[in-house]
This record gives sequence, C-alpha cells and structure tokens, in this order.
Amino acid sequence: MVRRLPGRQPDGSRRSRLTRAISVAGLIVVALTLSACGGGPLSTIPQDGAPNERIWDVYWFLWIGAAIVFVLVEGLLVYTIFRFRRAPQTAHGRPVPVHGNTKLEILWTIIPAIVLVFIAVPTLQIIAELATPPERDGEEPLEVIVTARQFFFQFEYPELDIQTANTMYIPVGRVIDLKLRSGDVIHSFWVPRLAGKMDTIPGRTNEMWLTAEQPGTYAGECAEFCGVGHALMRFDVEAQTPEDFDAWVQEQLNPSTGGGEGEDGDLAARGQQLAQANGCVGCHSVDGAQSAGPTWQGLFGSEIPLASGETVTADEEYITNSIRNPGDQIHEGFSNIMPAFGPDQLSDEDVQAIIAYMQTLSEGDEASR
Ligand code: CUA
Repeated sequence: MVRRLPGRQPDGSRRSRLTRAISVAGLIVVALTLSACGGGPLSTIPQDGAPNERIWDVYWFLWIGAAIVFVLVEGLLVYTIFRFRRAPQTAHGRPVPVHGNTKLEILWTIIPAIVLVFIAVPTLQIIAELATPPERDGEEPLEVIVTARQFFFQFEYPELDIQTANTMYIPVGRVIDLKLRSGDVIHSFWVPRLAGKMDTIPGRTNEMWLTAEQPGTYAGECAEFCGVGHALMRFDVEAQTPEDFDAWVQEQLNPSTGGGEGEDGDLAARGQQLAQANGCVGCHSVDGAQSAGPTWQGLFGSEIPLASGETVTADEEYITNSIRNPGDQIHEGFSNIMPAFGPDQLSDEDVQAIIAYMQTLSEGDEASR
C-alpha cells in the first residue's frame, strides 16, 4: 500500500505490471537493435570509401521513406480510433456493414505501386553502378578468383600465381575484382564492412568488387545456408599497405622453411603451404585450439578414438585415408563435414608433404614427454 503511487486504481496493479513488462521488453529490443548497429566485426556500417557506402545511401533512402509511411499510417490509425470510437448514445445500434469500396481499393493498390517504383529506381541504379569494377588512378583492378567449398573459401591470384584459403590478402586502395565460383553447392560471399553479398553458384562465375581504404582485418562469412558446416564458413580479408602486401606476395612465392632443415624441412614447409592453400587450417588448428576438426598439434602418431568406438593410430595410412575419404574413420566428437580431397586436388606427393608438416607439429609434443 505504501509503494502505491497516488491516483492509481486499486485494480490498476495488474495493468501497471503489464505496462512495466511492455516497457522492459521495449527497452531490450532497443538495446539489441542499437548493439547490432554498434560496429562489430560483421557490422554493415560501411568503411569510408568502400563500395557499400552506395548501398548505405539506398538504406537511408528506404529508411526515411519507411518512416514517413509509418507516421502516416499510424497517424491515420490513431485518428480513426479516436474520431470514430463508439459514442455512448449509439451503443444500442449496430454499425452499417461495408461491402468493399472501389475508390479505396484503387488507391491502396496505386499508392504502394508508386512507392515500389520509387524504391526500385535508386536500387537498380546502384546495382548497375556496382556491377563493373572501376579503374582507379590508372591501375588495373587486382583479380582474385574466389572458390567457395563446403566449408571454406579459397582465394586464387591468377596474376601472382598464388593460392590461399580462409584469408584473402589485399592491398589497400586498390580495386579488387572478385570472380566468385563454387566447388559444390550454392554459397554466398559476404564481407559486410566492405561490400554487399553475392552468391557463388555451381557452373557459373559471378562478379563483384571491393576496396578497403584502411589496413586491417575485415571479417567475412558465408551468407547462404550450405550444409552442416555453414556456420563455420568464416574468413578474413586482411587489408595491407601496398608495401606489406608486396612483402606477403614475395613470402608466398619464396616461402622460408621456418627452422626446418634439409629435404624434410622443405617438404614440411611445402605441406604447411598446402595446408593453408587448401583450407585445412580453417578447420584444423595447429596450436591445439578447438575448431571444427581435430587439432593437428600432437595428432600424428597419437591414438585416435573413433566414433565407431574403435581406436586407431594416426599413422600415414590413417591420415592419407582421412584426406581421401574423410567419412571413413570419423574422430569421436567431430561431425562428418570434411570434403574429400581426391588426387586431382592433392597429389600423393602433396599428401606426403602435409603429413611431413603434421609430424613437425607432433615433435615438440614427444620431446616434452
Ligand atoms: Cu557456405 Cu554457407
């Protein structure tokens, strides 16, 4: 009784609780909406100079248009509620039934049609504008062939003769001409902070372009449900200064063995490169971190518990079979989501190199035992 506010009806407590619940729910919705706009790694708020600034223009155009329509419709609704509420003196009477109103029906068909035309014009304009990669400062765009596979992205630089997976390296300020392909099913390539999204479709090549004005890491992901590993299909765009990018290109073309010596070291270094270029490391960490697939740290030579309940030793035979026929012997606790790598993708020598690389990831382990 003490807490009750003055003027509140005794039966008003239930209503006030409802009101409070509604305001709390409203606040949560507002908070969630604002946090989604806050500029996280997958925010669609564009970077300065990125092509999706133009998409953002359409967004604002639509948002303001929608706000005007909202105010008009809600205003009419509120006006109608108060203006035509049931008056006490007519409480006994019944409202006259209404059977259609031609004038109204024509109006509410034509007005939305006009609104749709207003939306379509700038949208189509910007789609056309963003279709062709522009030339900038007389520099040709850098072509990158993106191949989406279950469940990783591969990036090929035909002019540089480089292939990577999971991370796309680009120089800042340069237009990147993307050729989007699929190795299996439909995926969608999306780097929200830099550009719009585009599907990758088996049997065809889609084109889009992007630029990054500031160096940094931009998060990307597959935006089309493509199978059980869809949520794992993330990648990064690493935008570097032209000098850093050139250094990266040189490093890719002449990889240093990083401590390995002699033929074994060379083989392991090649294996490491293959593991990166083919996306292996997108799902298999090399430092023991949890990921979609078993970590490669300490894996070679260890005892693998299989989903079937058996145990196998991770020797050359097991690893080779797991690359060629990943569904054969599933590691307990992991899903059967890895694509098979046939001899056309990884030759027997390539598999040997990858195994040599995996062995280097187990050596430190053995030494500590
Ligand atoms: Cu690929 Cu979703």
